[in-house]
Amino acid sequence: MNSGTDLIILIGPPGAGKGSVSELCTRHLGWMQLSTGNLCRKHIAAQTEIGKQIDFAIKSGKLVSDSLVTEMVEGWLNNQIGNVPAVILDGFPRTIAQAQALDEFLKIKMQSSKIYVIRLRISDENIVLRLGDRYICSNSECQAVYSLSKGSKLIPQKSMVCDVCGHALSRRKDDEENAIRERLHIYNKHEQDLLNFYKNAKNTQYLVSELNVERALPEIFEDLKKLVGVGLDK
Ligand code: AP5
Ligand code: MG
Repeated sequence: MNSGTDLIILIGPPGAGKGSVSELCTRHLGWMQLSTGNLCRKHIAAQTEIGKQIDFAIKSGKLVSDSLVTEMVEGWLNNQIGNVPAVILDGFPRTIAQAQALDEFLKIKMQSSKIYVIRLRISDENIVLRLGDRYICSNSECQAVYSLSKGSKLIPQKSMVCDVCGHALSRRKDDEENAIRERLHIYNKHEQDLLNFYKNAKNTQYLVSELNVERALPEIFEDLKKLVGVGLDK
């Protein structure tokens, strides 16, 4: 049975623009986005049991446990399948264990959906620049992303205030030098294994491609739509 919902998996380093591109997809295409990072930060802000467990890992740029994050994602996916044209996973999977667990889930729940894996390509130098200029909305239900980079189109209309909900903007705790270094190190450790997993998968057909994200967001968005056949008869 076709679930009617396609899946887009974004694999990209910190600061590549996973969240920013996903936001364009939800706003313009009616897709749903799951940012596992946003979900973790919501738990921390609400001081839930999960939030208390993961606070240190998030602050220091380390990964939270595979089982915890996989459970969160599968629960969320179960509620979306069949209700929206596509879902976009921003930041999951990040390890082979997560990819294998998701693969099992897809075989059962999304066997005739199209599954796209898009690797976002950007240099370390640009990552550091982007994260240095990033501010996010301090409202954990919003977490809209901005850039204070000079001349950027992503600057908020009112200084240090969120365009979407009016809360103050702030820096993420893991956008501090040591945590950025740790996040990059962890990402680089897993990236190739993940890509190999998707290129060589036997039971699920993954449509693997790459997107240069060192360009303006509207251009990236147009190319992403082409990669997933938006606007074409599917
Ligand atoms: P997460 O929140 O996902 O962090 P991340 O992967 O490090 O990625 P970022 O959110 O920092 O960057 P982004 O790619 O979304 O870029 P953005 O759009 O903001 O995860 C945080 C933590 O949660 C992890 O470290 C881990 O602890 C935990 N976690 C999450 N998932 C997990 C998992 N699966 N397993 C285990 N642990 C997990 O853009 C960055 C900046 O650039 C912004 O200022 C933006 O305005 C700007 N920008 C974006 N695109 C462009 C562009 N094209 N041109 C110019 N500027 C741009
Ligand atoms: Mg993000």
